[in-house]
Amino acid sequence: MEIDYQLKPKSQRRTEEFVPDKPLPFGVLRTDHMFIMDYKDGEWKNPRIVPYSSVEVAPGAIVLHYGQAIFEGAKAFQHEDGEIYTFRIDKNAKRMNRSAEILCIPKIDEEVQIEAVHALIDVDRLWFPKQEGASLYIRPFIFATQDSLGVHPSATYRFMIILSPSGPYYPQGFTKPIKLLITKRFHRAAPGGTGSAKAAGNYAASLRAGEFAKKFGASQVLYLDVNNQYIEEAGAMNHFHVTSDGTVVIPEFTDTILRSITSESVMDLSGRIGINVKQERVRIDEFVEGVKNGNIIEAGGFGTAAVISPVGEYVFEDGSSLVVGNNEVGEYTKRIYEYYTGIQTGKVEAPQGWLKKVEKRV
Ligand code: PLP
Ligand code: COI
Repeated sequence: MEIDYQLKPKSQRRTEEFVPDKPLPFGVLRTDHMFIMDYKDGEWKNPRIVPYSSVEVAPGAIVLHYGQAIFEGAKAFQHEDGEIYTFRIDKNAKRMNRSAEILCIPKIDEEVQIEAVHALIDVDRLWFPKQEGASLYIRPFIFATQDSLGVHPSATYRFMIILSPSGPYYPQGFTKPIKLLITKRFHRAAPGGTGSAKAAGNYAASLRAGEFAKKFGASQVLYLDVNNQYIEEAGAMNHFHVTSDGTVVIPEFTDTILRSITSESVMDLSGRIGINVKQERVRIDEFVEGVKNGNIIEAGGFGTAAVISPVGEYVFEDGSSLVVGNNEVGEYTKRIYEYYTGIQTGKVEAPQGWLKKVEKRV
């Protein structure tokens, strides 16, 4: 791919390493540049890296009315050798194309997506935040740009990548377990819908439930399936629990659950970590009973932004609550977190192909 570099003058770019003087929030900061590529006349073209700025969108653009948009979330880490590595970025590229298929968006060659991410990070490498627990969050996304009010897939699209030097998604980080609301009132996704895609509309549809959860002091809703029988996932992460025999259980992926790359990675690593991980449909009544009778000893969420987030309490609309693992970070959760972040940060040897070095190009 021939990328057109339209970079900021050197005097306007970051010129020294980034050592934040306070804890970094998640997703707020931006870097100097962004990547753009457009789809027109049946092909993706004009890949370019330009200064980060607002973009022009027609008021009639399909994305603004009918929400035809998808995105990805990935991370890059700086290792002790000073180099920056993306983590399982090939999985993100593949999932972007899966989401594209579900939203009737033209696919982008996975190698092109990966190259675009690496080229952008290379240009903005000085933005890597040198802070414990922080990383460079990568947000690729595609949206429909055709100016048309008919409900149909757009004829034109824009693919963009922005970067955000970020701290943990939950401000308390890994140390303090979060609280989730279990409710039958809201559902994230319906069978036959877009739940397994990383579609912007799924997140718009989750906002009301998220605000409702806050009233109960919860960070997110733990969604159930539309028949309120099975645990699905939370608003921005998959769910897991650990049984008293040390088995990590992740709800089976259905077409209403996002196939979390973190969940898949934990499954891939189970042999190395020395834990048993399985996927199955998890009945909510059995889950509640298991926590009460001590058969479920830990729980949490898996996600790129959330990493491995311990959950210490579930609340219900009637005000009752269910505490798991004494509301403390449990042994299995800790082991997974340490192994997983160890791989990301280069302290534990990564499986072949999981980390890709961001080579110097410019
Ligand atoms: N489920 C939802 C709804 C999400 O938004 C995310 C975040 O990406 C996840 C699960 C976790 O997926 P991953 O581990 O690929 O980030
Ligand atoms: C991620 O974990 O990368 C996500 O996309 C979740 C998010 C909605 C912040």
